[in-house]
Amino acid sequence: MLGAILTRLADGRFHSGEALGEALGVSRAAIWKTLKRLEEQGYPLQRVRGKGYRVPRGACLLDPAVIRAQLPAALSERWQWHLHQQVDSTNAEAQRSLLPGAPHPLVVLAEQQVAGRGRRGRPWSSPYGQNIYLSVVEPVSGGAHGLEGLSLLVGLCLVQSLEDVGYRGCQLKWPNDVLLNGAKLAGVLLEISGDLTGEALVVIGVGVNVLMEAADGVDQAWTSLYRTGQSAPLDRNQLVAAFLLRLAPAMEIFRAEGFAPFRDAWQQRDAWAGQQVRVVSGAHEQLGVAAGVTTRGALLLQQEQGVQEISGGEVSLRLNNAT
Ligand code: ATP
Ligand code: BTN
Repeated sequence: MLGAILTRLADGRFHSGEALGEALGVSRAAIWKTLKRLEEQGYPLQRVRGKGYRVPRGACLLDPAVIRAQLPAALSERWQWHLHQQVDSTNAEAQRSLLPGAPHPLVVLAEQQVAGRGRRGRPWSSPYGQNIYLSVVEPVSGGAHGLEGLSLLVGLCLVQSLEDVGYRGCQLKWPNDVLLNGAKLAGVLLEISGDLTGEALVVIGVGVNVLMEAADGVDQAWTSLYRTGQSAPLDRNQLVAAFLLRLAPAMEIFRAEGFAPFRDAWQQRDAWAGQQVRVVSGAHEQLGVAAGVTTRGALLLQQEQGVQEISGGEVSLRLNNAT
């Protein structure tokens, strides 16, 4: 029922509880109850006495047909498309959907994840209907080595796609975060499937906060596109299409040339360039100044004794004045 209500509200106009109830064949109280739950989960629902309910313009549900219509045929047909109302994690689902022996590029989308994950098994808050939870499965060669820099490249494609539709000020935090006004807007989680030494598939997991106004259990500064108040689209179908339009050609170049051709564009959007940072790896910490990235996507850390290269994996970057 929630999906049906949100489909009707997607025009950005007010709808009374009575009209919604009539259209869906349920009581006004049932509509109220459903929308109250949604609001409690952080959905930006506006309720005005005498007018009814309204959602931000463009706050529609995900629809692969609408996304595909915004892509050239070669891209639309490149991937098999899967949309779930609820999954544990789109990355996990993508891995389960890989056909043994006949791997095929996939796009997996979900309205809600009940076990969305970040790096190192940390949870990714994924309430219904609000954000983008997307996994794209693509072939890569050279295994773990061939993946160097890919996490940075995916973050760059995300930021560029947000710029393409009109957002300003999105920045990158090495290795896998997108920040806006210093708060986390999006994250990238890559998981490899298959032969680490040769041809493999990479599951490119992307989470972008679009409408979220409240988040449970997120223990750091976060934001969403809606929260930033910029007058750019909140239509998740459009945002997914814009991202895939960036990702597909970038992957072609990456497969042939690696991260090097993207380094400058990444550095232009580097949130912490020139800042004092801590590189944390378990109990081990190193201090220095963030000095950009290498052509392979390693972090450059300027220290008194010289510049160090830090590769991804189990490493976290923090501003030196923050926890
Ligand atoms: P790093 O990747 O540098 O170790 P990180 O703290 O961002 O840093 P990740 O594993 O990348 O860690 O991301 C998971 C973390 O992101 C969670 O521990 C939580 O603090 C935060 N988080 C969870 N859900 C969201 C969300 N929807 N939006 C923003 N941040 C979130
Ligand atoms: C991070 O910043 O740690 C990465 C977060 C990645 C979240 C996305 S949402 C879609 C995909 N499925 C998951 O379970 N995680 C990624």
